[in-house]
Amino acid sequence: RRLLGARRDLDGLRVVISAGGTREPIDPVRFIGNRSSGRQGAAIALAAADRGAEVTLVAAHIEGSVLETIPDRIRITHVGTAQELGERMAAHAGEADVLIMSAAVADYRVANVAERKRAKEDGPLTLELVENEDILAGLVAARRPGQTIVGFAAEMPTDTESVIERGIRKRRRKGVELLAVNEVGWQTGFERTDNCVTLIGADDAVVSTTTGTKREVADALLDAVASLRG
Ligand code: CTP
Ligand code: CA
Repeated sequence: RRLLGARRDLDGLRVVISAGGTREPIDPVRFIGNRSSGRQGAAIALAAADRGAEVTLVAAHIEGSVLETIPDRIRITHVGTAQELGERMAAHAGEADVLIMSAAVADYRVANVAERKRAKEDGPLTLELVENEDILAGLVAARRPGQTIVGFAAEMPTDTESVIERGIRKRRRKGVELLAVNEVGWQTGFERTDNCVTLIGADDAVVSTTTGTKREVADALLDAVASLRG
C-alpha cells in the first residue's frame, strides 16, 4: 500500500473542509444535534495537509479526542450552528481551490428559541422548526472558475433504492463534481473509526468505493480530487 504522506500531489492547493455536526439551540442550555464526531472530515484535513495542501478546517463541534489529533499546521475555525457554518464557509470560499462539505448540517433550526432556560412548569414544549439554508447549494451557486466542490451524503437504502442510486440523484440535485456517499445506520458510519464511502463523479459514474479506516477513505477522496484537478 501507499506510504502515508509520501505524495505531495496537492502541493500549495488551498483546501477548506467543514467537519462535525452543527447544533441548533432550543434555549441557552439545550440543542438539537446529530451524531457526527468530525472524524471523517478531520481525516480528510490531515490527509490533505500531508499531501501538501494548505488546509482550513471549519469545525462544528468536532469531538475533543478528534481535535487532539489535528496538528498546528491545519488552521481550525470553530462554528456552532448551521447559519454560522454557512457564513464561515462563504467567508473562506473566495480563497479556496477546493471546498469539501463533510459536516453534518442540521436541516432545521428552532424558530422559537427561548430566551431563558425552559422549565417544565412553563407548560408543554412545542418546537417549531424552520428549514436551514443549503450551504452546499450556495457554494455551488457562487463557485469560482477552477474551484472544485465536493459534497457528502449520508444515506440509508430504501425498499426501492440503493444508497448509490440515492447518491446519484443527490449529486445531480447538488450540482457538485464529486459526491461522497456514506452509508449510515444505527451501527454504521457515525462514531466509528472505519467507514465505507462510494464516490460519484459528474457523469454519475462510480469513481471508487473504499471500505477501511477514515484515513483510507480520505486518501481515496483526495485521489479523486487530485485527478479532477490534474
Ligand atoms: N448540506 C449543506 N447545507 C444543509 C444541508 C446539507 O451544505 N443545510 C450539505 C452537507 O454538508 C453535505 C450535502 O449537503 O455535503 C448533503 O447533505 P445531506 O443531508 O445528505 O443532503 P440534504 O440536501 O440535506 O438532503 P436530505 O433531505 O437527504 O437530508
Ligand atoms: Ca440533510
